[in-house]
Amino acid sequence: MKTKLTKNILVTGVAGFIGFSLALKLLKQKHIVVGIDNLDDYYSVKLKKKRLIELKKYKNFKNKLINIEKSTSFDSLQKENFDHIFHFAAQAGVRHSAINPNKYIKTNILGTINLFKFASTKKIKSIFFASSSSVYGDSKNFPLKENDKLNPKNIYATSKVINEITAKSFSKNYSMKIFGLRFFTIFGEWGRPDMLLFKMFKNSLINKKLELNNNGNHYRDFTYIDDVVEILYLLMNKKTAKLYDIYNICSNNPQNIKKLITYFQKNLSTLKILKIPKNKLDVFKTHGDNKKIIKFLKFKKFSEFESAFKRTFQWYKKYNKKLIF
Ligand SMILES: NC(=O)c1ccc[n+]([C@@H]2O[C@H](COP(=O)([O-])OP(=O)(O)OC[C@H]3O[C@@H](n4cnc5c(N)ncnc54)[C@H](O)[C@@H]3O)[C@@H](O)[C@H]2O)c1
Repeated sequence: MKTKLTKNILVTGVAGFIGFSLALKLLKQKHIVVGIDNLDDYYSVKLKKKRLIELKKYKNFKNKLINIEKSTSFDSLQKENFDHIFHFAAQAGVRHSAINPNKYIKTNILGTINLFKFASTKKIKSIFFASSSSVYGDSKNFPLKENDKLNPKNIYATSKVINEITAKSFSKNYSMKIFGLRFFTIFGEWGRPDMLLFKMFKNSLINKKLELNNNGNHYRDFTYIDDVVEILYLLMNKKTAKLYDIYNICSNNPQNIKKLITYFQKNLSTLKILKIPKNKLDVFKTHGDNKKIIKFLKFKKFSEFESAFKRTFQWYKKYNKKLIF
């Protein structure tokens, strides 16, 4: 039975890392989640299906196979009413944007416009969409603040800047509450196999050399998924008069990649390295300022990196023993 506190929530990209992780929390809190995804094969579809199996254990989960690129994508949801929308469906990954830039235009730009168009026909309390730390590009002034100049250096980042501009204009033109979340390298259990940590874990397990750009001379502001989910949950329940805003979602604790690999080799597992040149699409450093979100939500404390990292590796070893992804 629907209680007073139960909310109806649409999560796009629900078979993806962040969408899945948030949906699990929402379902546990007895909210009704309508999750859409097209099970895109950018990375292991098996992993995406495994995530969906976890979500389908909950009766309050409804799943639809939808490709957001089509203008008619949301027609089948016209009868539904949502309190909140979390929009995570996207073509992620910086490097893939050099291989298939069109996909970023279709999924990220067109798909997001389709979602906002759908939302504009509904009464939604708030909409949250995924932007990215990559919108800042290369910078010299750290930590990066929300009002710093944007300087996208690849098509992925460009698509996220366009999402932000689009969101702002939809919010103004339709008086919709829309909030952009600039995620900084999210990691944790059920994470993405195309990202560095899971590549490290996999190559270590199969004894294959890890290709390391620029001798690991990079910094990433790794942010643990449990913190992200907690922040998203608090955001959903937070009332604000604002129509539009942008938040960095980051731990404000950048890690040097070379040091991280050395730590992994010393303490957790063997890992061989194949040194390869710098990739032009990568930024040298991500390091976000998180004061704005901490103040807004009175968020207490980000997880300690080392233990979250170890926990993620333990999970990976157990869950991916048979190398399903
Ligand atoms: N994970 C990070 O560190 C990170 C960092 C910055 C920004 N982001 C952004 O956060 C969002 C979620 O990221 P994630 O790590 O969960 O990525 P993910 O790739 O795991 O999830 C995205 C999901 O969207 C789905 N999808 C792709 N194209 C689609 C389409 N046309 N129609 C419907 N579904 C489609 C995919 O199948 C996938 O399950 C993305 O917008 C991403 O760009 C993530």
